[in-house]
Amino acid sequence: MSHWLIAGASRGIGLELTRQLALRGEQVTASLRAGSRLEALEAALAPAGSRGRLLEFDTRDESAVRAAATQVTEPVDVLVANAGAYGPQRQSSLDMDFPGVLDLLDTNALGPLRVAQAFLPQLRQGQKPRIVFMSSVLGSMALEGTFNLGYRASKAALNKIAQCLADDLKPEGIPVVAMHPGWVRTDMGGPNATLGVEESVDGILRVIDGLTVADTRRYLDYRGQDIDW
Ligand SMILES: NC(=O)c1ccc[n+]([C@@H]2O[C@H](COP(=O)([O-])OP(=O)(O)OC[C@H]3O[C@@H](n4cnc5c(N)ncnc54)[C@H](OP(=O)(O)O)[C@@H]3O)[C@@H](O)[C@H]2O)c1
Repeated sequence: MSHWLIAGASRGIGLELTRQLALRGEQVTASLRAGSRLEALEAALAPAGSRGRLLEFDTRDESAVRAAATQVTEPVDVLVANAGAYGPQRQSSLDMDFPGVLDLLDTNALGPLRVAQAFLPQLRQGQKPRIVFMSSVLGSMALEGTFNLGYRASKAALNKIAQCLADDLKPEGIPVVAMHPGWVRTDMGGPNATLGVEESVDGILRVIDGLTVADTRRYLDYRGQDIDW
């Protein structure tokens, strides 16, 4: 049994990660924001019994993230920084909602690092610590296309942050990877997405289960295939 921290677990991929991990007997700490739907997450955590716990924070709020971290006194083995948003409607290079995209950068690029920094003491105590940043193939600098520039830029920034954190934590033997979950039928991915959330999460967990320090600084999809940065 390992201790997993899933940040952003009220819906979609984070909720399904929590559900599958609780069912397989892991210790799961799952976070949601104040006011978010609680019932589905409670149901997903139920099989974990006393090994399941909820934390409340918005990843844009450093003091809230740090306060939540003080509630976790035991080691953490895996952090999945999953919380993310798609951002405002106007986010192209020709017409941008700048305050909206600034907020998106805060959530998607800085939020995962805020969570990783706050929980680093617990990760350092973990048996086989691993950090997974939920990115997107849309963050790849190699990918063409211009739609949703704000989202792309936020995930490209997150990828750079993942690389730097990977390099900084390599001497401590803690792998850090950026993960693309596939195009998944969630509120964000929409009904036309190609993957069900169960299939995506099944793949993500297989990849994370196999991560070692040799994998640090990789940009992987849910099947374990490398993506061009
Ligand atoms: N679905 C896809 O096709 C796809 C593809 C590539 C990458 N991704 C990435 O995968 C991750 C999960 O996506 P999803 O499809 O499951 O999206 P989703 O269904 O929209 O769920 C997003 C989750 O993130 C949480 N969240 C958003 N902003 C937050 C914040 N500031 N603080 C804390 N929690 C916050 C949401 O909480 P609330 O309920 O409180 O809003 C929700 O739990 C995201 O990082 C996304 O960018 C998804």
